[in-house]
Amino acid sequence: MTELSKPLIVINFKVYREVEGPKALDIAKLCGSVSEDSGITIAVCPPSAELGFVSRNVSIPVFSQNADPHAPGPSTGWMTPSMIKASGAIGTLINHAEHKRSMKEMAETAELCKGCGIASIICADSVELAAQIAQFRPDMIAVEPPELIGGDISVTDADPDIVERTVNAVKEVSRSVSVLCGAGVKTGKDVKKALDLGADGVLLASGVVKAKDPRAALQDLVRYI
Ligand code: G3P
Repeated sequence: MTELSKPLIVINFKVYREVEGPKALDIAKLCGSVSEDSGITIAVCPPSAELGFVSRNVSIPVFSQNADPHAPGPSTGWMTPSMIKASGAIGTLINHAEHKRSMKEMAETAELCKGCGIASIICADSVELAAQIAQFRPDMIAVEPPELIGGDISVTDADPDIVERTVNAVKEVSRSVSVLCGAGVKTGKDVKKALDLGADGVLLASGVVKAKDPRAALQDLVRYI
């Protein structure tokens, strides 16, 4: 697996209209350019339909937005960890609040990811769930309170406690699992606060994808690191 240096900024493109077709690569290239200028690792999660196209055309880390607990074989329409790896992506989100999974599915998918050498970022909506997920030893856990997703108030302001407590709870289970936080993160100040609270990075979407000027938004995100 490609080493991901911390702090890490992960931009989830979701399935916004702004990233349909070749526009996904345009935003991914902007992320690459700001990453190169700043020296900060910026990873991207393009929509599934553009995963291979983006992965083969940028040098920053690319993650799938989802992976299914399926091995290669006679199944239709699934996103296998093996195919994600073959597409050139280096990892995947699992259990995003907008693509929920059972504990069993999360565990199986995390194992398949390990087996084929891709990184896993499992999302959690609470400290308790994050601590349980840490038992699966994913590479990262991203804590995101669902009610703050897509809003204008960053989790780091609205609920700093969930970030700090998730970091502590996860590190108690395993120090090798990194912790990201997300929901409403939009500015460099939000990123700085996340790092001050002990997170290894952030996971965000609308702050970049829906920004009037995505390059300026990206430049602001890395400003205080
Ligand atoms: O995956 C990141 C996401 O759920 C947070 O979305 O728009 O609040 O940054 P947003």
